[in-house]
Amino acid sequence: MKKSRWAAASAILRSTLAIPSSSCSLSPPHPSIGGWLKVQPMQMGRFEMGVQSFPFLKPDKEGPVKTIPLHVNGRATRVTVDDPDMPLLYTLRDNLGLHGPRFGCGLGQCGSCTVHIDGEAVRSCITPLSAVGKKKIVTLEGLGAPDKLHALQKAFITEQAAQCGYCINGMIMEAAAFLAHNQNPSEAQIKRALAHNLCRCGTHLRIVRAVKRAAAGV
Ligand code: FES
Ligand code: FES
Repeated sequence: MKKSRWAAASAILRSTLAIPSSSCSLSPPHPSIGGWLKVQPMQMGRFEMGVQSFPFLKPDKEGPVKTIPLHVNGRATRVTVDDPDMPLLYTLRDNLGLHGPRFGCGLGQCGSCTVHIDGEAVRSCITPLSAVGKKKIVTLEGLGAPDKLHALQKAFITEQAAQCGYCINGMIMEAAAFLAHNQNPSEAQIKRALAHNLCRCGTHLRIVRAVKRAAAGV
């Protein structure tokens, strides 16, 4: 089976950092939100590094190839992966060709990889495939269709809320989950809901306007 991008990226990172596999451990082993590879203190050239954590660096061993059933965007599907602990993001993009969710930080910190799992906004870069089970996944592609856009997609276009657009998947998916619970939010509540989604282009004012517009059904 072709090596997953996760395996390839992990191998590059491990060799770049010269991390000996003996100093790595997965912790916690099967969390619902993610696994973190803890690397014990090590010397890198002149620098002494403390304990480092890398989300979902693939352990340096071959896992069993497995076929996993998933429910994505209203359809049942199956994916064959070389490690069921692979982050969901890689599966969506590389196995299923869904490129709405983006790889930003890979650390659960920027929000660009956000998808919905059973209606909740989740960071797919730190969610292991094995934690999804029978839950329903929705990506940006499943939120609306080109001929039937979701209110947020329409509002983001009307407000021209994207510059480079990299963060917009996360902004829309986070906002959609938020609006499902709060249909009449104040500006302060919208800002709080999106506070952990990062936009390097600084289009925050337009993004907030777009979410207000969608909430108002304009
Ligand atoms: S890529 Fe997932 S939070 Fe940044
Ligand atoms: S529009 Fe470029 S990162 Fe947000």
